[in-house]
Amino acid sequence: MSIKFCEKTKTFFLDGKNISYVFSINNYGFAEHRYFGKTIGHDDLSYTDTVGQQSNMATVPGVDEFSSSYHRYPAEISFFGTGDYREPTVEVINASGDRLTELLYDSYEIIPVKPHKLGNMPSMKGGETLVLHLKDKITGFVCDLHYTVYDDVSVIVKRAVYKNEGNTSMILNRAYSFALSLPETDYEVMTLHGAWARERQVERVPLGHGTVSIDSKRTSSSHTFNPFMAVLTKGATESSGEAYGVSLVYSSSFVLTAEGTSDGQKRITGGINDFDFAWKLDAGEELVTPEAVIAYSCEGIGGMSRAFHDAFRSYLINDRFVNTKRPIVINNWEGTYFDFTTEKLKKIADGVVGTGIDTFVLDDGWFGIRNNDRSGLGDWFVNEEKMPGGLDEIIKHVNGLGMKFGLWFEPEMINEDSDLFRSHPDYAIGVLNRPRSYCRHQYVLDLTRADVRDYIVESVNKILKSHNIEYVKWDCNRNVTESFSFGREPERQAEFAHRYALGLYDICERIVESNPKVFFEGCSGGGGRFDPAMLYYFPQIWTSDDTDADERTKIQYGTSVVYPLSSMSCHVSAVPNHQTGRATTEATRAAIAHLGPTGYELDASAFTDDDRIRVKSEVEAYNAISELILKGDLYRTDSPFDGNFFTETVVSKDKCEAVMITYRCLAGVNNEIKRVKAAGLAPDKRYFVPELGRTLFGSTLMNVGWTPNYPRNDFGCVVYHLREVE
Ligand code: DGJ
Repeated sequence: MSIKFCEKTKTFFLDGKNISYVFSINNYGFAEHRYFGKTIGHDDLSYTDTVGQQSNMATVPGVDEFSSSYHRYPAEISFFGTGDYREPTVEVINASGDRLTELLYDSYEIIPVKPHKLGNMPSMKGGETLVLHLKDKITGFVCDLHYTVYDDVSVIVKRAVYKNEGNTSMILNRAYSFALSLPETDYEVMTLHGAWARERQVERVPLGHGTVSIDSKRTSSSHTFNPFMAVLTKGATESSGEAYGVSLVYSSSFVLTAEGTSDGQKRITGGINDFDFAWKLDAGEELVTPEAVIAYSCEGIGGMSRAFHDAFRSYLINDRFVNTKRPIVINNWEGTYFDFTTEKLKKIADGVVGTGIDTFVLDDGWFGIRNNDRSGLGDWFVNEEKMPGGLDEIIKHVNGLGMKFGLWFEPEMINEDSDLFRSHPDYAIGVLNRPRSYCRHQYVLDLTRADVRDYIVESVNKILKSHNIEYVKWDCNRNVTESFSFGREPERQAEFAHRYALGLYDICERIVESNPKVFFEGCSGGGGRFDPAMLYYFPQIWTSDDTDADERTKIQYGTSVVYPLSSMSCHVSAVPNHQTGRATTEATRAAIAHLGPTGYELDASAFTDDDRIRVKSEVEAYNAISELILKGDLYRTDSPFDGNFFTETVVSKDKCEAVMITYRCLAGVNNEIKRVKAAGLAPDKRYFVPELGRTLFGSTLMNVGWTPNYPRNDFGCVVYHLREVE
């Protein structure tokens, strides 16, 4: 049993792999946090009660004792209006208009296996779960705090479920998922910010007095900030220091806030963004919030990343695909953009015959009247002008070459110039009598409406069910504006962003589950919706529209802070690169693209026999490490955010095998000598490294290291393969 309750001290002990999480119910019924970190014994931790008193503290309501104050207790959840002035986790407007809440202990239950998909939201599977029932006895407002731990991964999963057990409606002004109190020490906050084609750039700032907050107001988890935040002990590195990481299983507007109070307490809270949010809870209703997956490591940022990777691979990503060999695709997007015919596509497919590429993916432009990005979205029938006779001809051709066929969709979108818009203008999100904002000339469909969702599911399924399609790329190229849903009551319009997420999950579930053999890749103008909720449906996600190998070192490094390599789709594209104009060698482009499920995205119709031979050897090189990429442990040693180098080693779980990829951005004359060191190996095992022509102990490879012979020019990569020998 990993969850235990000590009746005497009213303390809950939750133990996961190498982690303990402890809280107790104090004299006032407040759920007081005690500890989260490395595994500890089940001691009475009441001695950690805050010592000393501060003036100007509001007492627990009705208790005129100076030492009692909700503001002073490390909290499992903080609520507003009754003495706690820190960032609240929840704020409610009660029937009388007051905003007071006092969520105190009512009861608990321990569930051997976690209830799955509460509120139809994607979530982590399995795991023993504690449900702590907290109640405001005056209003009947209830908060169930769910905690899940696993024996084999170092994360705790938390979420709140808010319920109205009173007799009158209330409004949730804020309904975050969790609060996490941390020991009082100096921390830095790490976040992943970005933009289109520059996703998930690592940033660290000190956490002082006040807040560090990131959010999305885009009804998408967004390019701008990933729904992730880590609090690191000051100076933590990839391999040392403590790291507490929070990753929200959520795809819509979110917020994450770290706070340092004047008395030195530190805390993170967050969930659904409360900006432009109000949720009406009628009597008897509940709101299930997104899960927060919280990883802990005392082995620095790298340890935290590996905890997330293991947790997502074991308990989040679809079992049908998580450990299966991924398709190696040729995608026509950068090869043709919208300018293709069936004949042209056939030539691209012919171009890769014999290379080991096993899936042809037809990207945007095959449907409706879609010759550029101004029209056609929403009309999911084949563009007969480009593809006379439909999709069957190209599918037959591709299958005849021994390859699978994949197809691009953008199910959530609509162009004004489409049959769908002409017949259902109200399907597009917008406010009557106001012009809508365009983005890439398109609007977003109102997924909060059941009829719109049914249209999407039926039209996408119709194509999937009537063709031999084995792979789908699900794109989403813009964010919501003019949030409003025709037909919904005015007092429920501020529920829009969360209702959009629920609608999105509904169509993902229905389309993915009714096509169980189809492999789905997520995408959002590159990696604009790279979050755990999307990973629940789509085992891999297109990491970025920036396919330049140099830029990819940063994007992939940042993405790997939270997400496993197996989730990061990476393609080799042509040079000069279409996004940056930079020319890198094919060897470098391939090596960087091998740090995730790999593929190609170029006009292969022009391939010569030499090109095919080269691509074949690249595919073989990828296949040789593909198990490591799917299942291995990632160790980052040189960060492209810190200098000229990028080095990552991926080690098999049994530590018998590893691959190291090291990259030097700029060459120079009379360069400094660069020493690289492997990480994550077994010190006592001996590894043969063909590229060094030597067999060395893991301890030597990790501590002494070696000096790579980078290619003479800029943007050079060297790859090392390490295999245990007796
Ligand atoms: C954005 C995606 O990231 C690209 O890969 C491509 O599919 C385009 N959309 C197509 O419109």
